[in-house]
Amino acid sequence: MNLLPTLSTAFIVLSAILVAIGWRLIATNKRAAHRKVMIAAAISALLFFIIYMSRTIFLGNTSFGGPDELKIYYTIFLIFHITLATTGAIFGLVTLYLAFKRNIKKHRKIGPITSIIWFGSAITGVMVYFFLYVLYDGGETTSMLKAIFGF
Ligand code: HEM
Repeated sequence: MNLLPTLSTAFIVLSAILVAIGWRLIATNKRAAHRKVMIAAAISALLFFIIYMSRTIFLGNTSFGGPDELKIYYTIFLIFHITLATTGAIFGLVTLYLAFKRNIKKHRKIGPITSIIWFGSAITGVMVYFFLYVLYDGGETTSMLKAIFGF
């Protein structure tokens, strides 16, 4: 069943859409709405993370089911996506922290960078989902290290 990865990918997409809306809101100076929408984006990202981690811990990760000669490109792309998503999560936490500390000058500076990294991780996340479940059937579901490195 691909229910959990589909659900977690939907939450990444929702989170990126909310960040885009939140950006638009602050650009038009709607502060209270910006705050609400960005908190919703953070909750959506947290839901993604909870689903993703519980799947990884209890079920394991799915390995690439496409042709062997494409596996290396998939692996490089997956590592790129994981790096982007991890950076996005750290930037996201710092951006939220600065907002709640009312350090708005720094928050305004880092906010657009965080948002762009966020869009990048959502787009590459959807692409990983596409390679893994849509373009080909998912391979076996195994432990995280085996799914990433194949051993
Ligand atoms: C696109 C770039 C961003 C810009 C230009 C921006 C700008 C701002 C500004 C000017 C405020 C102050 C509003 C006020 O005076 O009440 C604010 C507040 C806030 N921002 Fe952002 N922001 C951005 C991105 C983000 C992101 C990515 C998040 C969350 C991950 C976020 C979460 C918040 C929160 C929670 C507040 C409310 C803080 C509070 O009232 O205690 N913002 N933002």
